[in-house]
Amino acid sequence: MFESHDVPVLKGIVATTPKEAKEATEQLGTSVVVVKAQVKSGGRGKAGGVKLARSADEAGSHAEQILGMDINGHTVRRVMIAEGADIAEEYYISYLLDRAQRNVLCMCSKEGGMDIEQLAVERPAALAKVSVNPLVGVDAAKAKEICEAAGFPEQDHDALMNVFMKLWDVYKSEDATLVEVNPLVKTGAGDIVALDGKVSLDENANFRHDRSALEDNDSTDPLEVKAQAMGLNYVKLDGNVGIIGNGAGLVMSTLDVVARAGEDLPGKPHPANFLDIGGGASAQVMANGLEVIVSDPQVNSVFVNVFGGITACDAVANGIVQALEMLGDKATKPIVVRLDGNNVDEGRRILNEANHPLVSLEETMDNAARKAAELAVAK
Ligand SMILES: Nc1ncnc2c1ncn2[C@@H]1O[C@H](COP(=O)(O)OP(=O)(O)O)[C@@H](O)[C@H]1O
Ligand SMILES: [Mg+2]
Repeated sequence: MFESHDVPVLKGIVATTPKEAKEATEQLGTSVVVVKAQVKSGGRGKAGGVKLARSADEAGSHAEQILGMDINGHTVRRVMIAEGADIAEEYYISYLLDRAQRNVLCMCSKEGGMDIEQLAVERPAALAKVSVNPLVGVDAAKAKEICEAAGFPEQDHDALMNVFMKLWDVYKSEDATLVEVNPLVKTGAGDIVALDGKVSLDENANFRHDRSALEDNDSTDPLEVKAQAMGLNYVKLDGNVGIIGNGAGLVMSTLDVVARAGEDLPGKPHPANFLDIGGGASAQVMANGLEVIVSDPQVNSVFVNVFGGITACDAVANGIVQALEMLGDKATKPIVVRLDGNNVDEGRRILNEANHPLVSLEETMDNAARKAAELAVAK
């Protein structure tokens, strides 16, 4: 990504086996290479996932060690063999969305490297903070301001300003919420090069990018992958009560109420997921949601919490009945339903009439949460 925006980086080749790592080292042909774990986490260096090698054999044995390593909960499946940099100085720069200030915050320091968080706490004055108006961006004037705030010597300004503006181009045109380079280095020859990059992308902008090459389904929860493919708004959590609701606010409250209801029960049953099926949820969406939830082996019970608004309760009730028909044998877990709002009487009548053996109706959110939590223990 940096390369495509002309940010200066060193050459790197991705390898998945020690043999490929050796070949990559020979292909790069530099006297020193660095073997780097490719995981979506920082702190790789500290965890032993970044190692210098002076020969192809050494790169191969480092790769052997790093592949399969666990770094902050991510298993390393690929390494990058990168040209070794002749590092004279290590700097830090980041752009991040500052929601509170409604603009972008640039943080920059002459003292980059591995411990920027520590620097920020111990010597905050060494970390310059410059706000960037997103409508203007980092132009030459703003880049100069960043150089001065961080205290870079005058003779390095031009080279640094050039990189700062290109990194802004990454932030803006990739729809990022964070672009962080640590370290940005000055080499012995005086060049400025990004050695490490961390980028967070705004998923709301996915529709105007092709980000398929950046997806890493190996390290994403398989249920989240499945839910995403179905277009569901699902987040896996670690409890055993499956949750479905309509509206993000209602689902968030449901998580709280269920956690509270389970507090004094054995094993403290709590939510297994967040799932918002949205306002106009059809039977198919309800079926998809239920399918994802019941395929979570940790789930013992399901709580469907729906407030009928534009989509009235009778439509939701029909959706639940049809969803259970679609699921057939796949529906194996008790489902507690709380319906309220528009046309609630008809909705409850439909569910009572269907009389599905797995479904029980509760009138209030608290009672339903309690029931779902109890059912999660009973298993
Ligand atoms: N290509 C390289 N050449 C020389 N040293 C490097 C190179 N890449 C990284 N390093 C060194 O390793 C450290 C850690 O690597 P980095 O890519 O920043 O990973 P992380 O931030 O996840 O620990 C860097 O701060 C830098 O000192
Ligand atoms: Mg780093």
